[in-house]
Amino acid sequence: MEGWRKKLEESKWKSSYEENDYGSVFYGLVRALKPKLIVELGTKNGYSAFHIARALKENGFGNIHCYDLWEKYQYSSCPISIAKENLKEFINSGAAILKLKDAKDVHRDFDSVDILHVDLSNHGEILEQIIPYWLPKVKSLIILEGGSEERDNIEWVKKYNKQPIRNWLNNNKNKFRYIVLKSFPSLTLIEPIK
Ligand SMILES: C[S@@+](CC[C@H](N)C(=O)[O-])C[C@H]1O[C@@H](n2cnc3c(N)ncnc32)[C@H](O)[C@@H]1O
Repeated sequence: MEGWRKKLEESKWKSSYEENDYGSVFYGLVRALKPKLIVELGTKNGYSAFHIARALKENGFGNIHCYDLWEKYQYSSCPISIAKENLKEFINSGAAILKLKDAKDVHRDFDSVDILHVDLSNHGEILEQIIPYWLPKVKSLIILEGGSEERDNIEWVKKYNKQPIRNWLNNNKNKFRYIVLKSFPSLTLIEPIK
């Protein structure tokens, strides 16, 4: 079994972000950029939201609105009760707000946000359905799970014939600047061009 899969099964977070400590990347970005409003599409057990929320707490201001379908998702997720338990300190302080809603509709709820994090078992088609609505609304940074060759080559992307994220990035490169952090599962940082 690959190392990241074994760790994923053993951890309470069930997050591939754990393998290469992407929690520290989320924490560092939020500490540096000092956002007031963050939207996360795809929260699951709450690993990324936890590290974002602990940085918001250190900053002394800001909220993260976390969206997921949790047990209503047709593939693999977790019950919302687990996310609530893992994030309870931040829910109680008002820094984290959990909402069960289809990610494709969330853009209607916001005129502008500072940071958007998208982690919906990403592939080109889902990004195409979501990101165009957000590009004019995001002031600082869009963070996407994925973007490396290794991530595009994982089993289910090929098995279900999904569009690789790198193809989607390449097709849209006139709309934003981006860099890819390649350690698995990889992260793409997008700066929308205004
Ligand atoms: C890879 S997990 C998110 C992992 C999490 N960000 C972390 O740090 O571990 C993907 C999540 O996206 C959610 N999801 C997928 N499609 C969705 C949609 N259309 N609307 C809302 N949530 C969705 C799933 O329920 C699942 O919990």
